[in-house]
Amino acid sequence: MIKLRYGRMFQDQLDGEHGLSRARLTELALRFGAIRTEVSHRRTAGEYGFYQLVDQDDTVRQIKAFAEGLGQAHDHVLVLGIGGSALGTKALLNALRRPAWNEWDDEGRDFFPRLTILENVDPTSVAAALARIDPRRVLVNVISKSGGTAETMAQYLVVRQWLHDALGAAASRHVVFTTDPARGALRELAQQDRIPTLDVPPAVGGRFSVLSPVGLLPAALVGIDVAGLLAGARRAVERSEPDDLLQNPAALYAALHWAADTGLGARVHVLMPYTDRLRELAEWYRQLWAESLGKRVDREGKVVHVGPTPIGAVGATDQHSQVQLFMEGPFDKVITFATVNDLGVDVAIPDRSADPTAARLPPDLEYLQGHTLGELLRAEYEATSAALAQMGRMSCSLALPDLTADTLGEVIMFFQLATGYAGAWYGIDPFDQPGVELGKRLTYAAMGRPGYEPAGSENQTSADEV
Ligand code: PA5
Repeated sequence: MIKLRYGRMFQDQLDGEHGLSRARLTELALRFGAIRTEVSHRRTAGEYGFYQLVDQDDTVRQIKAFAEGLGQAHDHVLVLGIGGSALGTKALLNALRRPAWNEWDDEGRDFFPRLTILENVDPTSVAAALARIDPRRVLVNVISKSGGTAETMAQYLVVRQWLHDALGAAASRHVVFTTDPARGALRELAQQDRIPTLDVPPAVGGRFSVLSPVGLLPAALVGIDVAGLLAGARRAVERSEPDDLLQNPAALYAALHWAADTGLGARVHVLMPYTDRLRELAEWYRQLWAESLGKRVDREGKVVHVGPTPIGAVGATDQHSQVQLFMEGPFDKVITFATVNDLGVDVAIPDRSADPTAARLPPDLEYLQGHTLGELLRAEYEATSAALAQMGRMSCSLALPDLTADTLGEVIMFFQLATGYAGAWYGIDPFDQPGVELGKRLTYAAMGRPGYEPAGSENQTSADEV
């Protein structure tokens, strides 16, 4: 079970000046009844569709059967998707498979396939992936909830041709789609080309879909315990049922961050795991928090322009990069650390003092010997958290017991629940993304799609360039 430690959000645990007051926490707890009721009503009305992802026994059976059948016949899985259709899968692979997964040989991967995720239309990445992957050995999973996203569809058209050039009519046997059960161009193509297709539940938005077939199929294909992910997610949902804010970790996380943003101007929310294996989780969280909470209008249609800015960081690496800013820059941040108690592996730092034949280390390095890298990482987290507190900087920590599918499922659902609650605190709809529509329409226009008006190009005048 994960633990949220939040004492360092409060003045009395910081420098006595900055941070939230304990009285503010009491106020938040009193107001939580109304927030909880709103979330419950909206959930009953079907808006909070991601809750239903913890009950997917049939889907899990279908995915497992698929992974054990068709999946076994391929030694490379190529995912095409973007945003919520890619970031969660990247986080799962990064956290739950060996580091540098694709570099291991078959035995090193327990005979599960390699996994490449193409999430952009940068021709250099696409061309390089297609040059190194063998089309005879690949299974391509095209993931798009809407089934019409320009980037993913363009990738698919390229990949489909590449498969066809190599395999002819057999190309379709190397493709599986994940999309809306009824709507969209991808669904049409599935019927036309008889491509096996898994459904994205219509009530689950892209960035909340990693625990749907969107993330579960690629995860199962590379041997991740998908039932474990859902078991952890279920626990997070159960733990977010209490009406008492102090007993409801996801709701408390949301309330504290909202209060820090709107009351103290702490509008930059950093997720800083102390392990490389959660680096991609921080990227996933960035999208979840940004796209869900950054909104122009509130639920009543009033213009509000709200939204915290999420940032990803990794300890200890970013202690030598962003932490200077976190320590001494403006008081506009909340840092969430994520630590893993048991990473499953540790590496001893050799102790030369025990070997009379070894040359002595310079005295300045002697303190390191006899410890492990895991101990150093833990010490760096403790020290950074304490130093931030002394400098009056708010932080909290998510303590993970280990990095199993069960624990990661709980963490993922924890952040999704927190996002849902934060939407209610901010008074906005966390499930839409109207802000990305204008950019899409102008892209269509630039690509000559009928019915779309082009915008002026910034290159139209040379007056503003040097
Ligand atoms: O969260 C979202 O809704 C978006 O980030 C989508 O996931 C992203 O735009 C991709 O959409 P789709 O899955 O429809 O291709």
